Amino acid sequence: MSQTARRLRSHITEHVELTPIARRLTIHEPAIAGSATPGQFVHVLCSSGRSLDPLLRRPFSVHDVDPAAGSVSILYEIVGRGTALLAEKRPGETLDLLGPLGEGFSLPTSSGRPILLIAGGIAVAPLHYLARRLAETMGVQRTTILIGARSECLLICVEQFREFGDVRIATDDGTAGHRGFVTGLLSECIEEMDEENLPLVFACGPMAMLRAVSRITNAHDLKTQVSTEALMACGVGACMSCAIKVRDGDGVKYVRCCKEGPMFYADEVVWE
Ligand SMILES: Cc1cc2nc3c(=O)[nH]c(=O)nc-3n(C[C@H](O)[C@H](O)[C@H](O)COP(=O)(O)OP(=O)(O)OC[C@H]3O[C@@H](n4cnc5c(N)ncnc54)[C@H](O)[C@@H]3O)c2cc1C
Ligand code: FES
Repeated sequence: MSQTARRLRSHITEHVELTPIARRLTIHEPAIAGSATPGQFVHVLCSSGRSLDPLLRRPFSVHDVDPAAGSVSILYEIVGRGTALLAEKRPGETLDLLGPLGEGFSLPTSSGRPILLIAGGIAVAPLHYLARRLAETMGVQRTTILIGARSECLLICVEQFREFGDVRIATDDGTAGHRGFVTGLLSECIEEMDEENLPLVFACGPMAMLRAVSRITNAHDLKTQVSTEALMACGVGACMSCAIKVRDGDGVKYVRCCKEGPMFYADEVVWE
């Protein structure tokens, strides 16, 4: 259940360049560190000083939290004006954000089933916190983590994920691991698995990738949670700019990615 959105002004404690386009930004924010669940996001004001440009906040998944230290990190890629401005922020400065927002992943309570995490590109961001929480709550178990990127130099967090399971890589250009999309690796992986004990799947990435994941896992009848993305304005359920089409009995309805999501079950989303 999502909590009431809080506007916070948090101190940036660390800002690290991971690849030419990816950064990890850490803030001191005990209120979020103690309450965010994996898959939730924060809505960040990227403008600098008193400027209102860009006016709209930008959503970023909670990448990890450390409740003892009161720290929260996000992982992001520079793709446009907002993220370019965010990249200029320095430790010691203040970040204006709302959070934690949205409905995160539904965590399994028993450890019987293997777990399969799959992410494309920067979308590894929410899976790190998810992998850690799964390991903490269910103990070390059979977790497979599939990470895809365009090229080896754009792979992020591979070493950190090894702490939580068996990591397998796919790159579009074949510079590391399986050559091709990470969904190709997913198909291979499912074929190798014990048919009597197939995994619970958690996926994060661009909508086109999630659609492909959904097609594959639905064909194998695998329960799959996907962390969806939509362009967002308010981030708190007031504007309907982030509508996602889902099944509703024999019909369809629209729900808000920022409020009812971003996590949905793959078989409830109407993929277009
Ligand atoms: C729930 C949620 C969680 C997200 N988590 C992360 C994260 O952890 N790390 C990360 O790097 N990005 C994440 N994103 C995407 C991120 O919000 C966008 O990349 C960011 O808003 C771009 O802002 P900008 O001003 O730099 O780019 P803009 O100038 O606004 O846009 C640049 C490009 O990014 C595309 N874009 C803009 N907003 C989105 C969006 N919401 N989803 C998909 N494409 C978008 C535009 O179509 C355009 O092609 C998340 C999005 C959502 C909805
Ligand atoms: S962004 Fe306004 S309702 Fe989701």
